[in-house]
Amino acid sequence: MTPAILPGQPQLAYRDDELFLEGVRLADLARSHGTPLYVYSKGAMLAALAAYQRGFQGRKALICYAMKANSSLAVLQVFAQAGCGFDIVSGGELLRVIAAGGDCAKVIFSGVGKTRAEMRQALEAGIACFNVESEAELEVLNDVALSMGQRAQVSIRVNPNVDPQTHPYISTGLKGSKFGVAHERVLQTYRRAAALPGLRVVGIDCHIGSQITQELPYLDAVDRMLDLVQDIEAAGIALQHIDFGGGLGIDYNADTPPAADTLWTHLLARLDARGFGDRQFMVEPGRSLVGNAGVCLTEVLYLKPGEEKNFCIIDAAMNDLPRPAMYQAYHAIIPLSSNAPAPVASWDVVGPVCESGDWIGHDRELAVQAGDLLAVLSAGAYCMSMASNYNTRGRAAEVLVHEDRSSLVRARETAQTCFAGEILPAS
Ligand code: LLP
Repeated sequence: MTPAILPGQPQLAYRDDELFLEGVRLADLARSHGTPLYVYSKGAMLAALAAYQRGFQGRKALICYAMKANSSLAVLQVFAQAGCGFDIVSGGELLRVIAAGGDCAKVIFSGVGKTRAEMRQALEAGIACFNVESEAELEVLNDVALSMGQRAQVSIRVNPNVDPQTHPYISTGLKGSKFGVAHERVLQTYRRAAALPGLRVVGIDCHIGSQITQELPYLDAVDRMLDLVQDIEAAGIALQHIDFGGGLGIDYNADTPPAADTLWTHLLARLDARGFGDRQFMVEPGRSLVGNAGVCLTEVLYLKPGEEKNFCIIDAAMNDLPRPAMYQAYHAIIPLSSNAPAPVASWDVVGPVCESGDWIGHDRELAVQAGDLLAVLSAGAYCMSMASNYNTRGRAAEVLVHEDRSSLVRARETAQTCFAGEILPAS
């Protein structure tokens, strides 16, 4: 069979009927490390990053990887070594940045519920900026910074009230959302921030949602942001940077998001036209840097043909891959060997967890038999980072591949690790 490039997964291809990620045969990894197994391509991550870097060429820009998408240390190390900053949402994520060798001076801290302890921790580490999400948070951050004799650098996350046209659970820039400061309160919030002695206003921030596959919501958000920048600066408050958040979608199932370089060329043209092209830009991409760099390998445990449905029971479940159960998300599922002798049939691909919601794919045409190995595609983002121990299932192992090399970067959890922190009360 001639090598075929699979949609959205440039580093993934069949060679002589066997699926490879970069130069590594995936079946070999499944055999040596067991399944379920996450495998990530360093080359794919760097290629995705390069598209952003091309888009921002010649500009003052900082790409802060939104590490909630995949916070495994080996993944963070790839981006840290490539010069990225990080968008964090917890003190725990900050510790991961430090553990992976990231630069705290390139860290921005997002999220609606930062605790005082997390603010202190971030100030001690010397992060670049807090993306403040409410007036109440401004007051608390001011207090914490003053108590440490510091000034916290802040940008305010504004809610531009733009519809990103994506799944409602991952839309964040609409009026009814818990995120950001409402458009009409932005100016007074900036005035308050500028008056607080423990804060230094440095920028403005927005993030309108995730898995955005069209350019228009971004263009609308840029226009609304720039209107606000004009108003804020007219009030005498200078803004050094403009942060456009993350949100760019990936190809899961014939989705056609714009390429990052194309999108940014267009957005920067709009910024230039309005006279803001020389600002420092920040972006917080997550999914578009890692989503299509990863696959989850799984073994078929049992086939259970039925009258209404055929079930293909695999050893990966909703605790490993929560996106289908949570968002009815589609992930392509393909065999590791493309010359399977079994007849093609339609299968609901499900996991062993005791919930009807534990499915990975509905109505998939597959030629499978028990013992076969499958790959769940586009599994680099929001899969392992959202995995749980539900049903006392240890989380999967992870492997990073580059060219023809592979390294185990996370050991498989055992049942013992799942309950290691639990304490039986004296009876
Ligand atoms: N910045 C902020 C403030 C965010 O809240 C997010 C994602 C990002 C950046 C990165 O967005 P991305 O480039 O990855 O779209 N679990 C969901 C996605 C949740 C997104 C949460 N915020 C999923 O699996 O689809």
